[in-house]
Amino acid sequence: MLIGKKTDILSSEITPREVFESRRKFIKAAGFSLIAGASAISGVLPGTSHAAAQRHKIAAFGKTAYGKEEALTGYDDITTYNNFYEFGTDKGDPAVHSRLFKPAPWTVSIEGAVKKPRQISIEDIFKLAPLEERIYRMRCVEGWSMVIPWVGLPLSKLIQFAEPTASAKFVEFISLADPKTMPGVRVPILKWPYIEGLRMDEAMNPLTIMAVGLYGEVLPNQNGAPMRLVVPWKYGFKGGKSIVKIRFTEKMPVTTWMHSGPSEYGFYANVNPAVDHPRWSQATERRIGGGLFSPRIKTRMFNGYENEVGQMYAGLDLRKNF
Ligand code: MTE
Repeated sequence: MLIGKKTDILSSEITPREVFESRRKFIKAAGFSLIAGASAISGVLPGTSHAAAQRHKIAAFGKTAYGKEEALTGYDDITTYNNFYEFGTDKGDPAVHSRLFKPAPWTVSIEGAVKKPRQISIEDIFKLAPLEERIYRMRCVEGWSMVIPWVGLPLSKLIQFAEPTASAKFVEFISLADPKTMPGVRVPILKWPYIEGLRMDEAMNPLTIMAVGLYGEVLPNQNGAPMRLVVPWKYGFKGGKSIVKIRFTEKMPVTTWMHSGPSEYGFYANVNPAVDHPRWSQATERRIGGGLFSPRIKTRMFNGYENEVGQMYAGLDLRKNF
């Protein structure tokens, strides 16, 4: 991600993943950390992944037909190749630097255009609906994609609990920004906290979920523990992680990426192979884990979820509303 000028492009974003990974392994072996000082701040040994230390099974969740035909991206790829700038801008940083992050206890505030502002604990969110597994294709604006077996609940269930008023037209999702446990927040790379948003009908769409796990296990810190948004027909940056506030608004929220690069990142961010990002073609994508020489695959309109979501955008100029 990052914005605008060519000089802003991170090497991890333009290098094929396998090349980047082997270079990273070398850097790890050499004992360097890519964000200077961040490892010292968090007390983490440079280059140590903590995914394994956090693994806990989710006791009960239902299976669904979503994505049954898809070949899953491996757990290690999903949990070590991340964008979570609160823990650093390198793809490997979140797995390493989220070690001290505490996803419990966790409370989410519900604010704005609602009958009554209130707070809800993560435990009570778990009780709003039975948890279920949804295998979704995920497409990043940088041109790579994954297939992730999320565990979560429909966002609509949380919205029903929130009781928005008639004036609520949009929902804003606000991530935690804690400089003590999130070393990236001490650096003004983005305007913190990370903010994302959806139109009300998008938020209520049955495909939209709040994920609390993946691969049948509790969501690892680097993937947005304890709860993150998943909107599979939009570019990955719409999926705000570690959400602490949900605010209902009348006006379209200005999201973090709209603020950082208004000409590059729009509010809608629907996956659209016909509308390129200024720096990345959106016509094709590289499935992570496919190997260095695996052919790029064609990106599909709305990431292949056109039947489920296309009607929400009838009459909207998707080139203008990118
Ligand atoms: N949420 C927060 N709070 N901070 C971030 O930096 N990055 C976004 C999104 N959610 C981000 C975030 C981007 S750019 C992507 S592609 C996805 O998270 C990546 O999710 P993953 O690491 O679980 O694959």
